[in-house]
Amino acid sequence: MRLTSLPILLLPLASTSTLPAIVEPASCHTPSFHLTNISYTANLVFSTPAHLAISSATLSFTFLNPAAFPAFCGATSRGGPSSDTSSYFQWPQTYECDEYTEEPGEVVSGSVEFGYLHVGGVRSLEVNETWTCEGFNYFASVNLTLALDCETTVWQNPNFTWPNNGELYRTENVVCEPIDISIGSDTVLANTVKEQME
Ligand SMILES: *[C@@H]1O[C@H](CO)[C@@H](O)[C@H](O)[C@H]1NC(C)=O
Ligand SMILES: *[C@@H]1O[C@H](CO)[C@@H](O)[C@H](O)[C@H]1NC(C)=O
Ligand SMILES: *[C@@H]1O[C@H](CO)[C@@H](O)[C@H](O)[C@H]1NC(C)=O
Ligand SMILES: *[C@@H]1O[C@H](CO)[C@@H](O)[C@H](O)[C@H]1NC(C)=O
Repeated sequence: MRLTSLPILLLPLASTSTLPAIVEPASCHTPSFHLTNISYTANLVFSTPAHLAISSATLSFTFLNPAAFPAFCGATSRGGPSSDTSSYFQWPQTYECDEYTEEPGEVVSGSVEFGYLHVGGVRSLEVNETWTCEGFNYFASVNLTLALDCETTVWQNPNFTWPNNGELYRTENVVCEPIDISIGSDTVLANTVKEQME
């Protein structure tokens, strides 16, 4: 079963007196988030001064929560960056990650998705995960600031003429050093909601 939405808030216990108290099963690990090889690249190609032929950015990372399942997250955004946010990936658009099962044939119950926003020089990455363990549904959400070290390489054809013979006018490539970020169980737990399944 794939969980698509879960309540974010638990009702106070007083109003749920007909339900058993929620006790986290000891066999469910404490969640923590480990994002590795967070990679960002962007490419712009102007075939003429007036024609933007290619504009795309790719963001990818591998995601591991030892309490759930590993996943690969990646998306390409085309047509950006938007002039008002300088972001390619338009918030609130979200992107689904591909989950890997831990054992062949095992069915993963849950999902990981992310959203990215680059505004005012700050790159933020929000990751949400749902998973199940021992009859409990978990939902965790974290919003990370990405301190990416990026290099932009610009090339402009010094001999561009119009009409030309198929040469490009200008290219701009952005490549960022891949980084890793680990979020400890304190932070992830603070952003985690669990509820007992029926
Ligand atoms: C990191 O991600 C990039 C982009 O997806 C990929 O090309 C590269 O092989 C990855 N590096 C490692 C060490 O997995
Ligand atoms: C994460 O979950 C929150 C609360 O449901 C939602 O507002 C937000 O859009 C989600 N973000 C992503 C990247 O899915
Ligand atoms: C994530 O944090 C950044 C910086 O604090 C903020 O600008 C952005 O709006 C936050 N994103 C979400 C989805 O809350
Ligand atoms: C531009 O033209 C000059 C003179 O013909 C030539 O020497 C140079 O290699 C050309 N540059 C490029 C990038 O094609």
